[in-house]
Amino acid sequence: MPQIIILAAGKGTRMKSDTPKVLHTLCNKSMIDYIIDESKKITSSIDVILAHKFDEVKKKIEKKGVRIHKQNLEKFPGTGGALKEVPFTEDKILILNGDMPLVTSQEIQKFFEIDADIVMSIMKLENPDGYGRVVIENGNVKKIVEQKDASEDELKIPYVNAGVYMFKKEVLEKYIPMLDNNNAQKEYYLTDIIEMAVKDGLKVKALEVGVEDFKGINSKKDLAEAEKIMCDRIKEKWMKAGVIIRLPDTVFIDAYSKFEGECEIESGCVIKKSKIINSKIKANSVIEEAIINNSEIGPMARIRPKSEITDSKIGNFVEVKASKLNDVKAGHLSYLGDSEIESGTNIGAGTITCNYDGKAKYKTKIGKNVFVGSDTQLIAPVTIEDDVIIAAGSTVNKDIPKGSLAISRTPLKIVQGFYYKFFGKK
Ligand code: UD1
Ligand code: CA
Repeated sequence: MPQIIILAAGKGTRMKSDTPKVLHTLCNKSMIDYIIDESKKITSSIDVILAHKFDEVKKKIEKKGVRIHKQNLEKFPGTGGALKEVPFTEDKILILNGDMPLVTSQEIQKFFEIDADIVMSIMKLENPDGYGRVVIENGNVKKIVEQKDASEDELKIPYVNAGVYMFKKEVLEKYIPMLDNNNAQKEYYLTDIIEMAVKDGLKVKALEVGVEDFKGINSKKDLAEAEKIMCDRIKEKWMKAGVIIRLPDTVFIDAYSKFEGECEIESGCVIKKSKIINSKIKANSVIEEAIINNSEIGPMARIRPKSEITDSKIGNFVEVKASKLNDVKAGHLSYLGDSEIESGTNIGAGTITCNYDGKAKYKTKIGKNVFVGSDTQLIAPVTIEDDVIIAAGSTVNKDIPKGSLAISRTPLKIVQGFYYKFFGKK
């Protein structure tokens, strides 16, 4: 079993954000979560190096079963400094960056399949700006020069260091203590190990890696580009599994959503942390932390967290929150929050569960085969038993027993000829 060390102590200044870089998300999942999850497919021996906003990042990942270390950025800044105080526990050690969310376990695996003391990752780029350049002589890697330390000729080299390496344990044990900070950035460069190892005759191999998979996120623009790639991967996976996605470029499906059976997602939908089973989600609906089973949702519906919708039809401009709906029709313009609604019930247009009194939230329970007339306000807590009719426009502030009619209405007054008195004859 190898050891994987994830470097995530850097400040990420170019992100221009208060949020620590590795906690920024793509498809609703943070960069550090992606890289840890992919690493876990390979090994359980994982170390994460943090420093900037240590407590905030630690809190997010402490349940993921990784060892967390704090880099001393004052004393030992840089990617080499990051490894100064980490115990090397396994024979082969892979170094990953926390800001590379698109790297997959298949790509990581390739580093272990090459027989060498060091395997480093290189990419050929049209625009190598910002990366360390890889100096290659007679087909062999000689050294890595950081951009800020490179000569004019070196800056023209199109081969760059992608920043992922496999080292044999004894290589790190020998060279990490030897690193110095005698360079333009006054940092301890992990990359200096390459030149030292080559000079000592160690076997250093270069693995050419895909520019897309090894994309590092340094700015919000990089983040947006990587999110597009990630989201495409997610949608492709679900389409392969049998989900119809209409105009996939307009659909956002996050990393945590799941689909079962035959599902169809129309254009413009946003689906987060939800499970969709044998259902159709019509255009421009937003579904978050919900379970949708054998139902039709939308167009333009909003299903919010903790909702469970089964065998139901939810139409346009209906908002559902923390509600359990079973065989229910709510066709138009309603808010159903903190409610439980049972089979055969019809919710008329404009129905509102008034679940909040300004201090606390209360439940609305509606039984079987209830007809809720349009523009009904249900003042929670309230229970409507089975087989009830609620007349349109009613304000329901009492429980309604089985089989009854509930009606609250100010009597309609008709004043004949009033129009002409008010506006005059036309
Ligand atoms: C580094 C490489 C460069 C390579 C590039 C690829 C060095 C000296 N240079 O550049 O050759 O082309 O990656 O992306 O290694 N980090 C720490 N502690 C630190 C500094 C950085 O943990 O003190 C982490 C960062 O959080 C990040 C990763 O290391 O995840 C890379 O740091 P970054 O500053 O992006 O890379 P560079 O040093 O610019
Ligand atoms: Ca840097």
